[in-house]
Amino acid sequence: MDVSTLPHRLARIVGPANVLTAESDTTPYATDWRRRYFGRALAVVKPGSSEEVAAVVRLCAETGTAIVPQGGNTSLCGGATPDGSGTQVVVNLSRMNRVRALDAVNNTVTVEAGCILARLQTAAEAADRLFPLSLAAEGSCEIGGNLSTNAGGVQVLRYGNMRDLVLGLEVVLPSGELWDGLRTLRKDNTGYDLKQLFIGAEGTLGIITAAVLKLFPRPRAQATAFVGLDSTRDALALLTHMQSRCGDRLTAFELLSATCVEIVTRHMPGVQSPFARIHAQHVLLELSDTDAASNVRDVMEAALAEAMERGIARDVVVATSEAQAQGLWALRENMTEAQMREGRQVKHDVSVPISSIPEFVDAARAALDQAFRGVRVIGFGHLGDGNLHYNVASPPTMTEEAFMARMPEVNRIVHDLVVRFGGSISAEHGLGVYKRDEILRYKSPLEMGLMRQIKRAIDPLGIMNPGKVI
Ligand code: FAD
Ligand code: MLT
Ligand code: ZN
Repeated sequence: MDVSTLPHRLARIVGPANVLTAESDTTPYATDWRRRYFGRALAVVKPGSSEEVAAVVRLCAETGTAIVPQGGNTSLCGGATPDGSGTQVVVNLSRMNRVRALDAVNNTVTVEAGCILARLQTAAEAADRLFPLSLAAEGSCEIGGNLSTNAGGVQVLRYGNMRDLVLGLEVVLPSGELWDGLRTLRKDNTGYDLKQLFIGAEGTLGIITAAVLKLFPRPRAQATAFVGLDSTRDALALLTHMQSRCGDRLTAFELLSATCVEIVTRHMPGVQSPFARIHAQHVLLELSDTDAASNVRDVMEAALAEAMERGIARDVVVATSEAQAQGLWALRENMTEAQMREGRQVKHDVSVPISSIPEFVDAARAALDQAFRGVRVIGFGHLGDGNLHYNVASPPTMTEEAFMARMPEVNRIVHDLVVRFGGSISAEHGLGVYKRDEILRYKSPLEMGLMRQIKRAIDPLGIMNPGKVI
């Protein structure tokens, strides 16, 4: 195939302004958010409609060109980065950013894949509804990326992952056919639920162009608190306590270790802990109620006072203003950025049954210490979902470079333990390139075989995001 004419042919579909080929223009799209993966793209294409996406994919199928679908490019596992061959085309969905329809009675919104998550949240709010997916990258990540990674975030405890928020999808298949599965139904038992295949597929089965998502009543009363504790065990005891006192009004329960609070307050200007001292663990928690007259703050205060009396909690601050609540959230939301500024670490995104978290944390710490004495763990995450970002930084006795060279050993220690506790090595970020080979150790040959069969059936030419996931 003569690839030199491809950009020109792509430009005929989407317009010359929407095809980038100069290396200076394509580099930002070929580099991941963490600056760990540096690829090269034959071209970056920005279609403006589903029909244009379909035409682009048809052309790529005809010429055997590999496609890397891309949204906001915030993947933490290299999922949206082309390889270094310079032969892959990045199909960036950002121009397709319309909210097509919002039905406040049906509690649904139909939105294009390139819509930034925060924009969708605002559109829902304008209709007096809530779209609950919430994560620190919400100002730049896009709905197509959220769907393709089955994103989680800080409200999964109450509303579930992205998968739980989807009723219908529109997808361009690797053949270039456009599948209109934009159903707005809560009940539809008519055979295989095909949309589920594309959610969490990380762009390996097709390009999602639009989705029908669920909306919820908007909370009118909220309370936010920050709690200092002596241990992960106490944090878990606090979770159980708060759930029994507050039920599903508990919408967030996020963990931050002492190291995390130290790092985030040191690196991020204006971010401060409300406590005079740093505790072994900290929990950021939120209660929400749709009843404006609800006294969620009183409920929070009473439940946390009881936790203090029982010796579960050591220090408590309940926000008394929106600004104070935002200040507490800043401690959590700036964690990933602060971690980047701290240097390189071996990043993990693991889940274990919630009840096993303290045992897992103890076992991982002991095993890591044995292999790398004095190693630092930068552990935070969604305790209420059993999902920890258990990141490991070099001990003082090793250079960062020498430690990172031993990343496979670190992964092996952490991931083997995760699986021993019945957990997963990717709770919410996906496999991308980072964990593509690692998963082979943990998923059964039967499961991997089924995944390969599905991939071959839907993408027989293997043009959709090759080198990712499987
Ligand atoms: P991209 O990075 O562009 O793509 C992600 C994957 O989806 C790639 O494999 C890509 O090929 C594929 N893809 C993108 N669009 C499409 C499409 N339209 N059709 C088919 N495939 C597509 N994740 C969480 O789950 N929870 C968090 O709390 C969280 N916090 C984060 C905080 C920060 C600061 C950052 C940088 C990332 C965070 N992430 C989190 C990771 C990331 O998964 C999410 O930010 C988001 O879901 C990715 O969306 P995106 O539009 O940036 O996707
Ligand atoms: C988070 O929970 O903040 C994210 O998943 C990002 C991360 O793991 O760094
Ligand atoms: Zn997370």
